[in-house]
Amino acid sequence: MSRYNWIDGKDFSMDHFFLMDRWLLKMIFKKYESIEVSELKDLSRVMGTLLKENPKLCWYITKRAPETKEGITRLLEGAYANLSKEELRKKEIELMEAMKTDVIYTEPHMMQHNCNYIYAWDEKYLNELIDLKDMVVLDLGAGTGRLTFAAAKKAKRVYASEPVDMLREYMRDHILKHNIRNVKVLDGFVESIPYEDDTFDAVISGHVVGDDYEQEIQEMTRVIKNNGYIIICNGDDDIVRTKPDQELINRGFEVFKHESSVGGVIYNYKKQIVK
Ligand SMILES: C[S@@+](CC[C@H](N)C(=O)[O-])C[C@H]1O[C@@H](n2cnc3c(N)ncnc32)[C@H](O)[C@@H]1O
Repeated sequence: MSRYNWIDGKDFSMDHFFLMDRWLLKMIFKKYESIEVSELKDLSRVMGTLLKENPKLCWYITKRAPETKEGITRLLEGAYANLSKEELRKKEIELMEAMKTDVIYTEPHMMQHNCNYIYAWDEKYLNELIDLKDMVVLDLGAGTGRLTFAAAKKAKRVYASEPVDMLREYMRDHILKHNIRNVKVLDGFVESIPYEDDTFDAVISGHVVGDDYEQEIQEMTRVIKNNGYIIICNGDDDIVRTKPDQELINRGFEVFKHESSVGGVIYNYKKQIVK
């Protein structure tokens, strides 16, 4: 986590939780709700302390994402007592830094400009993997639209599926601003894709697959037409990977490798689906 230099914690506060939707709140509180989880123990207590200081925020979170209620009750019980205003702000900054890969979703412009996997990436890497000309494409977990808008230059139509509402709005603003006519932005999760079987010529994604390979690839396969493609096209970062993802190789993916402009070794993947 610490290698991602995406935000300065001082630019963030607990107020950013007010910008989060149900999906993001659920995802975050699943990580923090148990103060018994050792590696997050101090951060969970910090979260509890800062929530206790913000009753309106607790109200918002538990109304917006009712499934966080029990966890939040436990976090409040673990709160530190008697911290000064200065100590609280210091802890808040620490917490924001630790949560950088989550809180950045509430600031899509910052994500677009600060995340090297987005700004250092060149769309030639997508074009090297596949010619999307005339294809109907689904981008899963589209984020700010790195792959979506590159794909839209060639494809007939691109469906950008993204669970975070602020990121969906960011892509919609981009579509309006640039008068893009072949992109539709929608909600949706990789583990349960909201489309019929055999809908797309290609399903593309970057930095999304990996929590449950079996279920995710099965779902992607389901919505792909016979002879269509799954494309996993990651962004360019500074991580020097020593080997490709064995889970994808085991499932029949072809591997593509390049050195990124910021020093990392990047692997991309492609698989044709024959039904
Ligand atoms: C690291 S970002 C990558 C964004 C974009 N794919 C890219 O490569 O530029 C991960 C994205 O996946 C989304 N995401 C996370 N879990 C997901 C899930 N289970 N289903 C669909 N999208 C998911 C996040 O909301 C976020 O936009």
